[in-house]
Amino acid sequence: MCGIVGYVGSREAAPIIVEGLKRLEYRGYDSAGLAVQRGGRIVTLKKVGKVSHLESALPAGAITGSVGMGHTRWATHGEPSEVNAHPHLDCSGSIAVIHNGVIENYSSLKKKLIAGGHQFLSETDTEVLSHLIEELHKAGGGLEQAVRKALHQVKGTYGIVVMSSHEPRKLIVARKGSPLVIGFGEGEYLIASDPSALIRHTRKVTYMEDGEYAVISAEGISTKTLDDVTIQKSVEELSFELDQIERGGFEHFMLKEIHEQPETIRNALRGRLQVEEGEVKLGGLEQMREKLISARRIILLGCGTSWHAGLVGEYMLEQIAGIPTEVEYASEFRYRSPVIQQGDVVIAISQSGETADTLAALREAKAKGATVLGIVNVVGSTIARETQGGVYIHAGPEIGVASTKAFTSQLTVLALVTLMVARAKGLLHVDYKLLMKELDALPEKVGKVLDGAARIREIAGELKNARNFLYLGRGANFPVALEGALKLKEISYIHAEGYPAAEMKHGPIALIDEHMPVVCIVPKDAIYEKVMSNVQEVKARRGRILAVANEDDDDIGHLAEFVIRVPRTFGFFGPILNVIPLQLLAYYIAVARGTNVDQPRNLAKSVTVE
Ligand code: M6R
Repeated sequence: MCGIVGYVGSREAAPIIVEGLKRLEYRGYDSAGLAVQRGGRIVTLKKVGKVSHLESALPAGAITGSVGMGHTRWATHGEPSEVNAHPHLDCSGSIAVIHNGVIENYSSLKKKLIAGGHQFLSETDTEVLSHLIEELHKAGGGLEQAVRKALHQVKGTYGIVVMSSHEPRKLIVARKGSPLVIGFGEGEYLIASDPSALIRHTRKVTYMEDGEYAVISAEGISTKTLDDVTIQKSVEELSFELDQIERGGFEHFMLKEIHEQPETIRNALRGRLQVEEGEVKLGGLEQMREKLISARRIILLGCGTSWHAGLVGEYMLEQIAGIPTEVEYASEFRYRSPVIQQGDVVIAISQSGETADTLAALREAKAKGATVLGIVNVVGSTIARETQGGVYIHAGPEIGVASTKAFTSQLTVLALVTLMVARAKGLLHVDYKLLMKELDALPEKVGKVLDGAARIREIAGELKNARNFLYLGRGANFPVALEGALKLKEISYIHAEGYPAAEMKHGPIALIDEHMPVVCIVPKDAIYEKVMSNVQEVKARRGRILAVANEDDDDIGHLAEFVIRVPRTFGFFGPILNVIPLQLLAYYIAVARGTNVDQPRNLAKSVTVE
């Protein structure tokens, strides 16, 4: 949520900052701004909307300087406007702050500062930081001490960068709850809220931890805790490539990421699914393996799409691995005093590894004594670091705000975990190797579904003007219905609901008429006949049926106006195939309606505020 970029070195800072902000724009795009040290003062520029607006407003040669910082905003406090855009300055214009997160006690701090004569310009929580630092700076001790003291007074979350014309060759960065990474270049340092903004310049990085701050100048970096204890940080190597975060010829990141799925699923399986040996090896769970296998209960935590993955996981883990499993919205779990008992294993599912609610729920579970594990995409992210073990999904950077490839990789990893546990418990009633082969065949089958994209585009053209959609599925495909509806909502702004197919007749059936598209997921599995009855019920109310069905289903064509075919697979792997047409449908409808697919309104990729 929001993106941060900072630069200290000998090159021009502004172009580096703007380029970095563009890579972070998926985290927020309500406004963008930058500040650069120039001739003993701080020069700022802010614009509402995308980073490209900021870029085109950059006066040629006017914002020169080799120390600077920039921000792309997702509005929390105060509407998207120039005055609310970061950086925020103090009264004298000599201290500038950019900030991700939320200062929860900003209101009381602001009152005190106003009483002390400070003048605020914006409605943001962030601006209190600039004035508070200004106030504390008056006492002497320099910028570092002022920042440190200010952070002791602040409640909430932050990833901040501070600069001051009093000490123009340095940036001070600090973290509590909002990610920050420092990149080490040749005689230069870069700061970002996400390493994708740094990779063009360096692969060597260090991640800030909560409660740490760093003072960075071209000559070096010193890192301390807020209690003034010096710490040595380890330097890590980034493992992804620049082309993974570029569009590679696709019109949108979302389309690129949908098409990457054969490869990303393969990556999730690589080295783990050992078909010949009949083994599932999950290195990151090795130390926690016994705890997982003997778990009394598993609780899967997540938000949005990751929560949907958890719902599919629940079907897998209960029915194949025989472990009682619950799935919780992370945001609800943390505030309802959950009862954690001995033997509970909590698994946080998160693409970004930074979602504030998921992280907080995880901490709550850990504090109460649960074994905490993670299924995470972003390597080195906070959730990945705070869990006792876990499995990376290895989907590569996901830039489109609508999550696609992360979902199918999360499901793939949940399937691996389930197989590993079921095998260890001797619970598999079907041939284990057969299941492994089926899992191994999924990337190719996903490729086949993607081959049907042109037909899905045509169907999207037929349905693009609908005002509402209903998505129906049963069993492990109920969460797929939820996911299909979420994808459509978030990028096309069409109202959509996902429902368990049989539950429809308890209410939503009243909505069905000849204008209502009803997307039915009807694989030929154990409950095929039941779902077909539900499809009949829709047909009887003249709903416009779009069915996602198997290649060998000869009956569905008599009921559905549109049929999208997917290959057959083992029941619990079905969601991995069935969701692909729904991703494409949402994508093509959004494109046909002319919305901003990769950066839908009001959303941000990584929700790092509660
Ligand atoms: O990074 P996370 O997986 O923790 O993110 C969770 C949700 O914010 C995310 O899945 C969101 O719902 C997506 N926009 C869905 O497409």
